[in-house]
Amino acid sequence: MLQIDIITLFPEMFSGPFSNSIIGRAVQSGLVSIELHQLRDFAHDRHRTVDDEPFGGGPGMVLKSEPLLEAVQHVTKLRGSKPHTVLLSPQGTPLTHSRIASLGELDSLLLVCGHYEGVDQRFINEAVDEEISIGDYVLTGGELPAMVLMDAVTRLRPGVLGDEQSAELDTFAPGLDGLLQGPVYTRPSDLDGQKVPGVLLSGDHAQIERWRREQAVKRTQERRPELLEDWPR
Ligand SMILES: C[S@@+](CC[C@H](N)C(=O)[O-])C[C@H]1O[C@@H](n2cnc3c(N)ncnc32)[C@H](O)[C@@H]1O
Repeated sequence: MLQIDIITLFPEMFSGPFSNSIIGRAVQSGLVSIELHQLRDFAHDRHRTVDDEPFGGGPGMVLKSEPLLEAVQHVTKLRGSKPHTVLLSPQGTPLTHSRIASLGELDSLLLVCGHYEGVDQRFINEAVDEEISIGDYVLTGGELPAMVLMDAVTRLRPGVLGDEQSAELDTFAPGLDGLLQGPVYTRPSDLDGQKVPGVLLSGDHAQIERWRREQAVKRTQERRPELLEDWPR
């Protein structure tokens, strides 16, 4: 079972994506357990303050270290040891399939969602094991990036996808040597004159396999040629 704890100011944002479809089923069947922790619960002043103005001036508010540190301590106590702690940040290491695969081998993950102008650097120094970015653009908060990471990690866990092979042969997966998957088709075999490639209707599995491989290379060449630089591996 994979335990994912999330520290956030907006726990209600997580309710939709994790009660539906494949991830919803993974949660219901106990393959993954998700616990949300409201950061404000760890602020003890009258207004439950979690942010303050940046030293040195400038726009926005910065998330304070103390409530964040206390929230991490709370999760550490709950789990018996400190989980691998990830801060979602546009300044982090860009997320890739191979990073997702190794995070998916852990039993426990703690995701910290930033907001506003960011997070006090001293919290990062003290408690964060790695910073992860979901791409070179800036979102308003770490909640959507945390959901992206959780979805990708969860679908690779054994038993989550019905057909185990389907993750293995997806774009970026080892079964495709990290290439993009080629085109896929379903019925009808002729859509207003657009015909499905004949090989897919041939029933010859070796030939279909070869064709899929060629299409994966072709598509990667067209769309992401840099992925072919150290290929075949
Ligand atoms: C508006 S952003 C802060 C940006 C920060 N002032 C900077 O310039 O790097 C607020 C929060 O959203 C999250 N966030 C925004 N973009 C992200 C991305 N591309 N990947 C991961 N997290 C992101 C982070 O948790 C961040 O602390």
